[in-house]
Amino acid sequence: MRYLAGVLLALPVVAEPITFNKDIAPIIFHSCAPCHRPGEAAPFPLLTYEEVKSHA
Ligand code: HEC
Repeated sequence: MRYLAGVLLALPVVAEPITFNKDIAPIIFHSCAPCHRPGEAAPFPLLTYEEVKSHA
């Protein structure tokens, strides 16, 4: 019973759609943007959805 309750509580979290701004952008900004921005070492920026998507 405990197990089942845990699964039911977890479901809405899992079912939420993944969005760029909420889920992807923080990872990209934290891990990639220090280099992937204009003027830095990497050859292309990864600062917007379109920029990231074009390299997906
Ligand atoms: C320490 C700086 C740095 C970080 C942090 C960094 N990159 Fe890069 N990235 C580079 C550089 C420099 C190049 C160009 C490498 C080259 O020309 O050989 C590159 C190239 C790339 C390429 C092209 C690879 C290819 O084969 O053409 C992709 C895709 C990429 N990075 C994605 C990412 C992603 C996604 C992240 C975050 C998870 C990230 N990078 C984090 C510096 C970085």
